[in-house]
Amino acid sequence: MKYVKCGGEVFEFKLTPFKTHCRYCKQKEAEIKPSGTSLLLCKECFLLFCEKKVKMAIEKHKMFGEKEKVGVMVSGGKDSAALLAILKKLYPQQEILAIHLNLGIKYYSDFAQVAVEKLCQKLKVPLIVYNLKEKEGFSIDDFVFTHFKNKICSVCGTIKRYYFSRIARENKIDVICTAHHLDDVLSTMTSVFFQGDFLGLSRLGPVIYPLFQGQPKKVKPLYYLQERDVFYYSAISGLPIEKCACPHSEITPVKEWKKWIEEKDKESPSFKFKLFSIFRKKLIPLIKKELKKVPKEDFLPCKICQEPTPSKSNICAKCRRVKLLERVKERKIEYEPDEFLNFLSSSPQNEIVIFDVREKEDFESGSLPGAIWINPELLNEKEKIFIKTFKPYKKKKLFFLCYTGRTSYYFVLRLRKFGFLAFNLSKPKELLSKIKWKLKKALV
Ligand code: FES
Ligand code: ZN
Repeated sequence: MKYVKCGGEVFEFKLTPFKTHCRYCKQKEAEIKPSGTSLLLCKECFLLFCEKKVKMAIEKHKMFGEKEKVGVMVSGGKDSAALLAILKKLYPQQEILAIHLNLGIKYYSDFAQVAVEKLCQKLKVPLIVYNLKEKEGFSIDDFVFTHFKNKICSVCGTIKRYYFSRIARENKIDVICTAHHLDDVLSTMTSVFFQGDFLGLSRLGPVIYPLFQGQPKKVKPLYYLQERDVFYYSAISGLPIEKCACPHSEITPVKEWKKWIEEKDKESPSFKFKLFSIFRKKLIPLIKKELKKVPKEDFLPCKICQEPTPSKSNICAKCRRVKLLERVKERKIEYEPDEFLNFLSSSPQNEIVIFDVREKEDFESGSLPGAIWINPELLNEKEKIFIKTFKPYKKKKLFFLCYTGRTSYYFVLRLRKFGFLAFNLSKPKELLSKIKWKLKKALV
């Protein structure tokens, strides 16, 4: 099984028979070595190992009590799937509710929602789905039309935090569990440290207490588990997950740090733990002590949505971003077949370039007139190479065609980040057959 992480990295699920017995049960063959340990475990005992680590985090940091209502943020990915499964297994009597935000990201969000629905059905956990486009009239994709076009992940983070917190409050949830694991926490800590944001660093603990009345407590039960182990947990347990990465996935500073930490850890295997312990045991307690002298932020209701905000302008971060969309006159990024054919016949040909990102044989056996073939692998290339390919067409309208609309959409989104006027062609099969028919008619 392959899983594409946000940022394009691929995780592969591969078990290695170690030709020795499992260190825990001493019966089955060992197939997995949990990250940062010398243990060799069988699949079943590996699951127990992960569950133990989660239980330890919950108990050590008193994340929730048995009477508290627990909300789990589920995205459709491996981390939140593993988190929900572990919590349900460890605390079968606990009142647990899953919350999913459908972000309206085309060719992605609906697949993620299906995975979440299957997961909750399998685990028998009640689920709340909040559809951003239906309920609020905008989607995360819409931000490609704003100056946040190359910071979509950051806008998405703000929007997610806002709605999760509001939905949790509306559903009387006491504690929100997020699926941040050790690698997430460590890379964020390093990134925040190098930005000099010590207040932010002090808030990266396993528990974040409410900043204002009515705000739920936020906890990270996967705090002591590494990402690879979380992925293996969900793969071994056969949890339904969406295996493709979000099309907006960007190489953010946090992801760069994650890669760097990963490389360092390969060179010296206890690097991650050493760094983690310096932050947690040395630096953060020191900062917290200093911060006691700093006056606490005041939270006042946002002028637009009434949610409490520390912002001096009295408009919360979510509303400030959503307001930008009001200025966008047209949010067009995709053409339906007929719409495109009309457009094609009414526009000067030299203003348009069509790119076919299917396999070469398929392109050669029939494409749109004048289309240029682009290797779909280009999508995984570094920014410089990617942009260089399209630079000669910067002033034109670029259209992309693939098999389902998904790969071409990913091309379009990536180009939009760099200011290209790129559009996706939806229902490509229908479009291709309409073009064929048109050409035939013209020949007759
Ligand atoms: Fe938020 Fe991809 S899931 S930008
Ligand atoms: Zn607001």
